[in-house]
Amino acid sequence: MTHGYAVNTTLDPGQNERESAVFEETARHGCSDRAIALFRDIILDYYRSSGRRLPWRETRDPFAITVSEMMLQQTQVDRVIPKYRAFLAAFPDWHTLAAAPVRDVLAAWQGLGYNRRALALHRTAQRVVGEFGGVLPADPKILATFPGIGPATASAICAYAFNLPVVYIETNIRRIFIHFFFAGKEQVSDSEVLACVGRALYREDPREWYNALMDYGTVLARRVANPNRKSAGYAVQGRFEGSDRQIRGRILRILLERGGSIVADLVAAAGGDEARVRALLAELEKEGFVIVRDERAALQGDRN
Ligand code: ADE
Repeated sequence: MTHGYAVNTTLDPGQNERESAVFEETARHGCSDRAIALFRDIILDYYRSSGRRLPWRETRDPFAITVSEMMLQQTQVDRVIPKYRAFLAAFPDWHTLAAAPVRDVLAAWQGLGYNRRALALHRTAQRVVGEFGGVLPADPKILATFPGIGPATASAICAYAFNLPVVYIETNIRRIFIHFFFAGKEQVSDSEVLACVGRALYREDPREWYNALMDYGTVLARRVANPNRKSAGYAVQGRFEGSDRQIRGRILRILLERGGSIVADLVAAAGGDEARVRALLAELEKEGFVIVRDERAALQGDRN
């Protein structure tokens, strides 16, 4: 691996020809053994010569891998890197995270967005400590029952932390398989893609294979107009400006800075009308972020 954090989008000479050979094969024979062999070589050769050195690739610690996967769910790699490092410096293991106040976990999450993930990770740590003696179970089915860990994240953790031959699909993987195996097709279901992912899996080293897919997926994202549009499950992320998500983020930031606040002051500071802020506060309370009592709001665990 030679290229640091940034993905190398320059194609090696002959890369287009190599990709074309896969297209020709899949056009005639679909996801054939030959198509898969050609495809695997392209993905692994690229990774072995140009793969990124990312901090979560230098560890096999299930805790650190889980932190990285939770952060990477909805945030780009270059924004995750500094937050990942700072988070691990503050919370080096399951026990430390489980024992930390909500306020400290949320503070470390600021800048990543989607704060629900921070709360979910905190609760996951409490469950790992309380129920599994501080050892993350190496089983995607069990992991998918943890807060904030869906089937894809559960599988990713098992691939990266435990090198298990899991078969799963997420945005990069979907993009690659649609590009190579469903060229020219309009609607592609996840189950069709998954069948192909399962056959292509490089079982000798699932960790290396999924790392390689992540990097090739990033290269493709820069190169071609989003092939995920053709996925039957494709959804566009909504606007942030003026959204509930933006106001929720502001409310939490204010409570982190001020400790607690009169609801009326929050309304003034967070923007949005009173009914909306109250509704969002009720939602945040239900989810376990805040406590609202006698017209004062504070973070869960803070003194109100
Ligand atoms: N997106 C989700 N998981 C990732 C990983 N481990 N590396 C890069 N991007 C990712």
